[in-house]
Amino acid sequence: MASTLNKTVPITLFMLLVTCSFQAMPRVMNEETIVQKHKLWRAQHGRTYVNEAEEEKRFKILKDNLEYIENFNSLGNQTYELSLNKFADLTNEEFVALYTGYKEPPHTGSSKENIVFLYEKLTEVPSSMDWIQAGAVTSVKEQGICGSCWAFSAVAAVEGIIQIKTGNLISLSEQQLVDCDIMSTGCRGGWMENAFHYIIQNPGITTEANYPYKGKDGKCNLKKAAMSNVTIHGYVDVPANNEKALLKAASKQPISVYVHATSKGFQFYSNGIFSGKCGTDLNHGVTIVGYGTAKDGTKYWLVKNSWSKDWGEKGYMRIKRDVDAPEGLCGIAKKASYPIA
Ligand SMILES: *[C@@H]1O[C@H](CO)[C@@H](O)[C@H](O)[C@H]1NC(C)=O
Ligand SMILES: *[C@@H]1O[C@H](CO)[C@@H](O)[C@H](O)[C@H]1NC(C)=O
Repeated sequence: MASTLNKTVPITLFMLLVTCSFQAMPRVMNEETIVQKHKLWRAQHGRTYVNEAEEEKRFKILKDNLEYIENFNSLGNQTYELSLNKFADLTNEEFVALYTGYKEPPHTGSSKENIVFLYEKLTEVPSSMDWIQAGAVTSVKEQGICGSCWAFSAVAAVEGIIQIKTGNLISLSEQQLVDCDIMSTGCRGGWMENAFHYIIQNPGITTEANYPYKGKDGKCNLKKAAMSNVTIHGYVDVPANNEKALLKAASKQPISVYVHATSKGFQFYSNGIFSGKCGTDLNHGVTIVGYGTAKDGTKYWLVKNSWSKDWGEKGYMRIKRDVDAPEGLCGIAKKASYPIA
């Protein structure tokens, strides 16, 4: 909704439009405070601007965002909070254009690689699961200004199943996928299923250390791509729009999922269980690395993102689970998949 708004509308009207479901009164902040906040934020994030016009423009955007964030947090009755994070001087449109990177329509894979859902028959599923604690998740990475979320999501799922099978947690190469998976389009977006297909065909994927991330498109380094450290044999599509099936899968290994990451709630998410308004037009790839239930009974998915540790809960997000919509919140259950090693 926010993304279609004309940025020149006065802030009061803007607040009214985007926060109509919770009727907050915009809190007026004095200009001086915001100037200080912008300065401090720029120092913290090492942000420089090419000229004064740019600085002025970025200041206005940060001010809009700050008002949005403070108003949201002042409601005090939400299951999550927002913060003035590294995306603070970007409009929501810029944020979506720069930091997501999944493009519909999806791929069509070969049936030989695309194995039927293996966890359907599971009857007992633990009430919570944390693949980070289990040692199957590498530290949070950063895609930078490149629409390579799909590569990070696929790699995290592969790192997970390899650790579960072998006991070795090895950080793997997103750049190899960005450069060499010709069925995706590198920094212009891609698909986790295609990444799995590439790894099966190559076969294998090398380490992060051997083929480090650059955050831009490059020529496929065939020599490094041939040094496969691990491989997978197939991948599975989790039955669509079925959070129960997704739960079974996530109890067994980290799962690649797509979400609609367009909202300001996503952009400025800081902590708590995200339960905000969300569409289901998938535009971002992330990885489910666990699930659980908060003390107040709210169920959540634990999601690994690729926007560095200074976004969300040290790079992770908890998203509300078992919602009314079959697609799950933000479409998380719409198109999940996982690799078989
Ligand atoms: C929070 O409070 C606002 C205003 O009092 C209300 O409109 C909104 O529904 C509440 N939200 C939740 C999640 O309880
Ligand atoms: C990955 O493979 C390369 C080439 O065979 C090898 O030199 C390297 O030690 C391997 N790394 C790991 C972590 O196994």
